[in-house]
Amino acid sequence: MYLGIDMGTSSVKVVLMNDAQHILGSSSQPLTVSRPHTGWSEQNPADWITATTQALDELKQQYPTELAAVKGIGLSGHMHGATLLDQQHQVLRPCMLWNDTRSYKEAAELDANPQFRALSGNIVFPGFTAPKVVWVQRHEPEIFAKVAKVLLPKDYLRWWLTGEYASDCSDAAGTAWMDVGKRQWSTELLNACDLTEEQMPRLVEGTDVSGYVRPELAERWGMGKQVVVAGGAGDNAASACGMGVVTKGSAFVSLGTSGVLFAATERYLPNPASAVHTFCHAVPNTWHQMGVILSATDALNWWSHIAEQSAAELTQKLGTELHKPARVLFLPYLAGERTPHNDAAIRGAFLGLAHATEREMMTQAVLEGVAFALKDNLRALEQAGSKLERVIAVGGGSRSVYWLKLLATVLNLPIDLPEDNEVGAALGAARLGMIAALQVDPLQVLTAPVIEQTFEPEIALLSDYAHAYERYRLAYPAIKSLS
Ligand code: XUL
Repeated sequence: MYLGIDMGTSSVKVVLMNDAQHILGSSSQPLTVSRPHTGWSEQNPADWITATTQALDELKQQYPTELAAVKGIGLSGHMHGATLLDQQHQVLRPCMLWNDTRSYKEAAELDANPQFRALSGNIVFPGFTAPKVVWVQRHEPEIFAKVAKVLLPKDYLRWWLTGEYASDCSDAAGTAWMDVGKRQWSTELLNACDLTEEQMPRLVEGTDVSGYVRPELAERWGMGKQVVVAGGAGDNAASACGMGVVTKGSAFVSLGTSGVLFAATERYLPNPASAVHTFCHAVPNTWHQMGVILSATDALNWWSHIAEQSAAELTQKLGTELHKPARVLFLPYLAGERTPHNDAAIRGAFLGLAHATEREMMTQAVLEGVAFALKDNLRALEQAGSKLERVIAVGGGSRSVYWLKLLATVLNLPIDLPEDNEVGAALGAARLGMIAALQVDPLQVLTAPVIEQTFEPEIALLSDYAHAYERYRLAYPAIKSLS
């Protein structure tokens, strides 16, 4: 038996997987995000531990025998967060999350130092870890002075679970402190932020053993001794492991809180100019490229809050047949944007409202805005050398058939919907736990899922959507000066 623990932005999910890679059970606990000021997005690391403990306690009640047989655990989590600890292992302040853009000035300053793009292979985006810590140095110097360790969110869970300070290369690549081609911390980049390697966790590969579950926790859940905790992965690389997206040419689109278009690559192919992310994959000696938009289901959830109807009700009202593009245009930049604009200041918009505009059309516009933003990402990936032939859909948004049909048509790519795609990152984490525990060839374990349904682009609507996308592209420069 193996466990995958995925710490998402809105919940912690734990899955229990057997040796045949079947998910026997899962448990999840909600998490909230606090936004005390515009552009801020924080979580309290203590809540991650409470939620994970509750999820595992719940699993133990249902599956005590299976939990006793767990040999390996894999971790996945939202990337880029800065969890700051002092010498006594105490958390110094709330964790600033991946969609926290307060450090946009610090990010631009670091990005202007050519060493960052040259060594880390990426733009220094405001959401990345390095600029956040520079922000703390400037605005909370008494906290910065006490920083003994900087941990990514899932690595804080690892410390609690095992007592080890370690991170894996896929997640660490999103800090901006790593030499991503060499898969090691960069002394130059750390020093440029007045930090040293001692303040970083040790680096392991996603498939390596990073430590063992602490005896008191193993006892609580009735597990044996020496339960392996694998390096694991950032949530996107973990989803890729769950969906078998580990060899060149394979790709997925994720409709989660953020939206991601992810392509596996066999070599390190940085292209910061196109604003794609180039990170290590969780499989040793492989890399990946991805475009990231900050609000995917987050945009729909925002709209559902305003419209006072659940996201499921809103999307169901659209039916399952793809309509012509809405006359209303929605720009999903609720928290700024990463790929392709790298713009923390831009904000969202509805354009083209009329007396005839109704709630359904605005829902349609929200789904279209997200699809168009992902089309921007497809273009960015193409500029960076990744040619996609088809993509697997993952994430909560892929429950909407309408959204999948729309995406297939906007991207002009077939979209494969796996039989069970909602546990993607947790399944990927469990698979990494299995590889580390058994020390087997990763590619034997990280296989492609069974596809339940494929959504083909709707030929009759391709040109309408191509025109609508052009309108969408013109809207960003038009509203930029107004945001
Ligand atoms: C990736 C990114 C998000 C988070 C949250 O760069 O910021 O996808 O990992 O899921």
